[in-house]
Amino acid sequence: LDKPIKVGIIGMGTVGSGVVKILIENRDHITQQAGVSVDISRIVVKNPEKNRAVDIDPYLLSTDIHELINDPTVPLIVELVGCPNGSSAIAKDWILQALAQNKHVVTANKEVIAKYGTQLLEAAEKSAGGLYYEASVAGGIPIIKTLQESLAGNRIQSIMGIINGTTNYMLTQMTRFNQSFDSVLKEAQRLGYAEADPTSDVEGYDAAYKIAILSSIAFQTKVPVESVHCEGITKITAEDIQNAANLGYVIKLVAIAKRLKDGIQVRVHPTFIPKTHPLASVNDAFNAIFLQGDAVGDLMLYGKGAGMLPTGSAVIADIIDAVRNIRFNCKPRLSVPNKTEHISSINDTVSRFYINTKVVDKPGVLADIATALGEENVSLQSVIQMGIDHNDPVSLVFITHEVKEINLRKALEKVSQLPTVYKIANVIRVEGANINGGTN
Ligand SMILES: NC(=O)c1ccc[n+]([C@@H]2O[C@H](COP(=O)([O-])OP(=O)(O)OC[C@H]3O[C@@H](n4cnc5c(N)ncnc54)[C@H](OP(=O)(O)O)[C@@H]3O)[C@@H](O)[C@H]2O)c1
Repeated sequence: LDKPIKVGIIGMGTVGSGVVKILIENRDHITQQAGVSVDISRIVVKNPEKNRAVDIDPYLLSTDIHELINDPTVPLIVELVGCPNGSSAIAKDWILQALAQNKHVVTANKEVIAKYGTQLLEAAEKSAGGLYYEASVAGGIPIIKTLQESLAGNRIQSIMGIINGTTNYMLTQMTRFNQSFDSVLKEAQRLGYAEADPTSDVEGYDAAYKIAILSSIAFQTKVPVESVHCEGITKITAEDIQNAANLGYVIKLVAIAKRLKDGIQVRVHPTFIPKTHPLASVNDAFNAIFLQGDAVGDLMLYGKGAGMLPTGSAVIADIIDAVRNIRFNCKPRLSVPNKTEHISSINDTVSRFYINTKVVDKPGVLADIATALGEENVSLQSVIQMGIDHNDPVSLVFITHEVKEINLRKALEKVSQLPTVYKIANVIRVEGANINGGTN
C-alpha cells in the first residue's frame, strides 16, 4: 500500500460528525476501497470546547482554517461548514484557496455550489486538484454521480424531485393528521426536522439550490439559481390537502427540471401528484428523484436526503474518489457545464392546475366561472363542489386541462372579478399525469 493520505476536515457538526464516524468505524473497508489508508489530519471547528457527537482525539481539533488549507502535507480538504453568518461567500473563498493550492476539495454545500458552481468548477479545471459535491443534493442519494456517470449517454428529458426532507415531513404530517401548516411546523421544529428559522426550507430555496445543481449537470448548461422559479409550502392548507385526496392526488413540494424544444424550465413549487405516481408514496423526511432519460426511460432513486450518516455516506464516497485520484495523480475528468440554454419563464410553462374558489351558493356560478376560464382557453378536466351542506361561501374546486400559465393567470383575474366569486383560495400546479409518456 501507498503511504496514508491525509484529509483535513472543516466543520464537525451534523455532517462532519457523520464523516468522522464513518472514517473511524469503516476504516479498514475504506482503506480497501481507496487503496490506501485515509488519515484525519485536522478538524477545524468554531468552538473546540464543544461536546462532539463522536469521540475524537482533542488534539485533532483546530480553529485555524488557513493553516490547514496551506499545509502541503494535506492534499484533500473536506468543507462541511455551511454558510457562517448567512454568507456562502466565505466557504466559496476557502474552496477557491484550496483549489489554488492544487488540492482536492469535497463539499456538501448546496448553496455554494448552486451560487458559485461555475466559478468553482472553472477553478477546479485549472487546478491539479478537483471538486466533488455529491452530498450537496439529496444527502445519501447518489444522484450527482448517477447523472454524471451512469446516465452520461442519455439525453435527460425531465427530473422531478422531492429533495427537501423538512417540507416533505411537514406535508406528510398535514396529510396524515389533517393538521395546519403552523401546527406541523411547530412540531417539526420541536423534533429537530425543521430549523428555528425554517425560511430556506418552507419557502423552497433549499430545493431551488438543489435543482439548479441537478439541472445544470443533467442539461450541461448554466442554471443561475435566480432563474429557478420558486414557491414554498406556506400557503398550503389542510383543505387543499383534503381536496387533493378527494381528487386522487397528494401534495408534494416538487423540484422540476424539463427539457423543452427551445431550452429548459426549472421550478420548485407545491404540486398535485397522482396517488399512483411513484413520488406520491415518498413520505416523511425521505427524498426521491424521478427522472426520464431518452435511453433509460423512467428511473427513480429513493433514500434519506439528510442526516449525519446518510449525508456522511455521500461525502465519504467523494473522499474515496478523491483519494483514488490522488494516488494515481489524476483529477476528475468532467468538464464545466458551459452551454447557456434558454431558461423559460414560468409564464410560458404549460401545466394543469388545481383551483380552489370560494363562491356564492347559487345556481349559475359554475357556468360563470367556466365561461370566464374558457375565454382564455382554459378548459376543465374536473369540477367538484366541496361542502354540499350549502354553507355560504361554498367551495368550487377545479382541475384544468393543460394550459399556459400566462393564460391561466389572465383567466383567474377575470374569475376573481365575478360578483359571485368571493375569492380564489389557492391555485396549485398538477403534474405527473402520465408517467409512461412524459411527466405531463
Ligand atoms: N445536515 C444535513 O443533513 C445536511 C445534508 C446535506 C448537506 N448539508 C450541508 O452540509 C454542510 C454542513 O451542514 P451541518 O448540518 O453539518 O452544519 P452544522 O451542524 O451547523 O455544523 C457546522 C460546523 O461548522 C463549524 N463552523 C461554523 N462556522 C465556522 C467557522 N467560521 N470556522 C470554523 N468552523 C466553523 C461548526 O463548528 P462548531 O461545531 O464548533 O460550532 C460546526 O462544526 C452545509 O453546507 C449543509 O448545507 C447538510
